[in-house]
Amino acid sequence: MGYTQFSFLLFLCFCLVSFSSSIPHPCRKDQSISLLKFKQTFTIGHPTYCPYQSSTYPKTSSWNVSRDCCSWDGVTCDEMTGHVIELDLSCSQLVGNIDSNSSLFQLSHLQRLDLSKNNFSNSHISPEFGRFSSLTHLNLSESSFSGQIPFEISHISRLQSLRFSTSYATNLRLAAHDFKLLLQNLTQLTELDLSYVNISSTIPLNFSSHLTTLKLGGTGLYGIIPESIFHLPNLETLDLSENDQLNGYFPNTKWNSSASLVEIYLNEVNLSGNLLPETLGYLTSLYFLSLSNCSLGGPIPESLSNLTSLVSLDLTSNALNGTIPSWMFSHLPLLRNLILSDNHFSGRLEDFKSNSLRWIDLRNNHLQGHLPNSIQNLVNLTVLYLSFNNFSGHVDVSLFSDLKQLWVLDLSYNSISLTNENKVNFTWPETLFLLRFAACEVKELEFLRSAKQLQELDISNNKIQGRIPDWAWSNWMFSLFTLNISHNMLTSVVSTIDLRSNLLQGSLPIPPNSTSYFFISQNNLSGEIPSSICNLASLIMLDLSRNNLSGEIPQCLGNITGLEVLDMRHNNLSGNLPRAFSNGCSLTSLNLHGNKLEGKIPRSWAHCKELQVLDLGDNHLIGTFPMWLGTLPKLQVLSLRSNELHGSIRTSTVENMFPNLRMLDLSSNAFTENLPKSLFQHLKAMRTIDPSKMEPSDGYYQDTVAVVTKGLELEVVRILSLYTTVDLSNNKFGGYIPRIMGDLVALRMLNLSHNGLEGHIPPSLGNLSVVESLDLSGNHLVGEIPVQFSSLTYLEVFNLSHNHLEGCIPQGNQFATFENSSYEGNDGLRGFPVSKGCGDDHVSNTVSGLDDQEGDSEFLNDFRKAALMGYGSGLCIGLSIIYMVSTRNPIWLARILLKLEHKIITRRKKKQRLLRNNKRRNNLL
Ligand SMILES: *[C@@H]1O[C@H](CO)[C@@H](O)[C@H](O)[C@H]1NC(C)=O
Ligand SMILES: *[C@@H]1O[C@H](CO)[C@@H](O)[C@H](O)[C@H]1NC(C)=O
Ligand SMILES: *[C@@H]1O[C@H](CO)[C@@H](O)[C@H](O)[C@H]1NC(C)=O
Ligand SMILES: *[C@@H]1O[C@H](CO)[C@@H](O)[C@H](O)[C@H]1NC(C)=O
Ligand SMILES: *[C@@H]1O[C@H](CO)[C@@H](O)[C@H](O)[C@H]1NC(C)=O
Ligand SMILES: *[C@@H]1O[C@H](CO)[C@@H](O)[C@H](O)[C@H]1NC(C)=O
Ligand SMILES: *[C@@H]1O[C@H](CO)[C@@H](O)[C@H](O)[C@H]1NC(C)=O
Repeated sequence: MGYTQFSFLLFLCFCLVSFSSSIPHPCRKDQSISLLKFKQTFTIGHPTYCPYQSSTYPKTSSWNVSRDCCSWDGVTCDEMTGHVIELDLSCSQLVGNIDSNSSLFQLSHLQRLDLSKNNFSNSHISPEFGRFSSLTHLNLSESSFSGQIPFEISHISRLQSLRFSTSYATNLRLAAHDFKLLLQNLTQLTELDLSYVNISSTIPLNFSSHLTTLKLGGTGLYGIIPESIFHLPNLETLDLSENDQLNGYFPNTKWNSSASLVEIYLNEVNLSGNLLPETLGYLTSLYFLSLSNCSLGGPIPESLSNLTSLVSLDLTSNALNGTIPSWMFSHLPLLRNLILSDNHFSGRLEDFKSNSLRWIDLRNNHLQGHLPNSIQNLVNLTVLYLSFNNFSGHVDVSLFSDLKQLWVLDLSYNSISLTNENKVNFTWPETLFLLRFAACEVKELEFLRSAKQLQELDISNNKIQGRIPDWAWSNWMFSLFTLNISHNMLTSVVSTIDLRSNLLQGSLPIPPNSTSYFFISQNNLSGEIPSSICNLASLIMLDLSRNNLSGEIPQCLGNITGLEVLDMRHNNLSGNLPRAFSNGCSLTSLNLHGNKLEGKIPRSWAHCKELQVLDLGDNHLIGTFPMWLGTLPKLQVLSLRSNELHGSIRTSTVENMFPNLRMLDLSSNAFTENLPKSLFQHLKAMRTIDPSKMEPSDGYYQDTVAVVTKGLELEVVRILSLYTTVDLSNNKFGGYIPRIMGDLVALRMLNLSHNGLEGHIPPSLGNLSVVESLDLSGNHLVGEIPVQFSSLTYLEVFNLSHNHLEGCIPQGNQFATFENSSYEGNDGLRGFPVSKGCGDDHVSNTVSGLDDQEGDSEFLNDFRKAALMGYGSGLCIGLSIIYMVSTRNPIWLARILLKLEHKIITRRKKKQRLLRNNKRRNNLL
């Protein structure tokens, strides 16, 4: 082998070696196994709040064997050896324990370990952490560790960064002597964060001179702050806040000579007897200064004007005095937060020359004079608190019109008079949620109209007269938590509050005493109805329906004598019905349908002579039929359906019981004996078909009642205008159907099903000429179906099933449309559609026949009238004509329109049914 060949091979070798070493070393099997085992000891919890994290997601979710472990999220390997040297699982939603057997401790080459912001379920920090001898960075902050921090941590002598900060809630402790050990042994430390760890110790004297961050806030430290801390040469962040047993003095000489300090938090440290030292002026890098609650006195030293990097200056709650120096508003170009509240500052407020300020809090000082006009230039201002000073003069709201970022504006308790003289059309920013104008001589509220998202409004101690405008309630009802309007000159506040159909939760809010109309139905309100609802002494309508309110109905409601509408249907109310109403009762509508109310219907309700609608259906009421309700002259709707009422229903023959009743629903109770024949002798309103009752009622509140008709539970709106019904189904009535029922000619629905009725069907029922639904099923009726029924041309639902009827089914008209289900369970019935011969049962009815039969109906007469007006003919055209003309003669035409709608719908259904039956029959033949 020649030299060149050899050197070529050597070169090749060298290339291979150097090439392979430049490929990242793949994951070591043992490391991968340890990581996967570690992953498996945790479940993934809810995302936590990680404001400073670029991303928060369960990093371990993506760990699986199909990929090299060195490329897993949060894992970094040594390129040479393949050992895992860095594990960053901060904010990874881990839930579980790390005990001493954890495979984590097999990753012995770790240099950086960050497990912060997970949930380690209050487990203890294992002493095994002390064996990570290569560790330089350890972060176990805010991860729900508890108990004592093991002293073994101080064995990790290479540690540069140690973070154990926690929150108030957890109980993480560090023994005083372990704290000293830690500081003694960890000589490389640059960052130490033990915030809120319970240390309860004095501060030891010796510190790593490398420290840049020292955070010992809320640790229970006591004693004196060693002056050496202030002289740490590299210190950037010093946080000893919230240690109220800790005392300290600022050095008298120049300190922090390299001016490295960026943040100082000494709030709630006792610096009493101190003035703010001139020497603070040396800290020219200072960004945050927080010295609130430090018992500092004296003026703000001039030297602070050198702190041109300052962003936030919090000196609240001290005894600082003198004026607020003007350089604060001109020499500190980055200053955003100026918090000087609760001090003794006096004098005037100088003009703002730099506009960087976002948060100004000067509450509770002795400042005086006019507010500077330059406030309007602070375009980024979000918070302005100026209350409890001696500012004076007129302040026009236009001063704030350019502050489009404002959240909070508080001018209360000065000697200001707030005006809106310029009447500028400015809109308050949408961000604004807190306004306090107490004692600002405010006379009207108009200038607040555009403030729509307010959560707190204090306009107490002003001169607002008259009533609070309605827009105020609609603007603020949803957002406001606190409203103070006390000490004004209001005469009335509000009358109508309509919060129907929202997503309101929690307990029932009680509106102002002056409310007359309160609608808050269809929300998610829960809890009991507070008896303070009775403070609304002028209430006229109260609609709490369709919520989850529980408990009893406050008895005191019966004391609101002007109440006309009380609607609490579809809640979870229990207990007895409210008694009272003895002092007078104006109720026209009382609807408690769909609750769990118990007991009897109180006799005291007989005072409610105005009652038109009474719906107590779907409750657990007991007792016998309250016949005395018949003396309520205006009662039109009575539903006692689905309760536990029992006994026979007997009427005295007193004249004129239930004279206006048009809907009677007693279904699903336990009434017994004969049908109340004597009751049917009354019911005057059901005995005539009164076309005037077709007029739709109007008004803000629409009475509705649930009726079961045509096989569906419908909520009939405008019941007062449309329906006449009797439903006595699902009881234990026996005996015959009284002939007199045929006199109730206005009935559109009659349901006597599921009782124990006997005898023949009285032919008089054939007089119910407008009946649309007739259900006599589930009884013991015998004999034939009266032929008179064939004249019931409105009949749509007809059910005679499960009786003992026999003979031929009448033919003609509607009877062509009923199916076998109308007759099943009656073995003796014959004829179409029951497929047993009954003479000539050929189909004699056709769709056209049906039309012919309806040809003379009132509706078509009306329709012809419309057509004769010269607008042409045909249904569609007719409809549009009617629509057009209806603007001229609304009542007459509205009536036609209603009928028309009704006919079209019924006829369409009939046609469909007829066609279906024809088809079926053809198939059979
Ligand atoms: C302090 O650190 C040294 C060097 O790592 C170590 O040997 C010693 O055990 C530590 N002392 C304590 C008390 O942990
Ligand atoms: C300001 O505070 C200092 C220290 O508390 C006090 O000595 C001084 O009298 C105060 N000055 C005024 C005008 O109140
Ligand atoms: C800071 O300001 C004071 C007074 O304005 C001035 O005398 C001083 O030289 C400035 N520099 C330092 C480092 O304090
Ligand atoms: C207001 O804030 C915006 C956005 O942070 C900034 O660009 C602008 O310079 C600020 N204006 C003033 C006057 O500081
Ligand atoms: C305020 O706005 C209303 C309606 O937008 C307008 O009619 C009125 O003239 C405006 N007033 C002023 C002073 O701009
Ligand atoms: C509302 O009325 C009640 C009872 O009359 C009374 O005690 C309460 O002070 C009134 N509330 C207001 C705000 O006027
Ligand atoms: C109703 O008012 C009368 C006096 O008007 C009072 O005595 C009674 O306690 C009140 N009832 C309820 C339940 O508040």
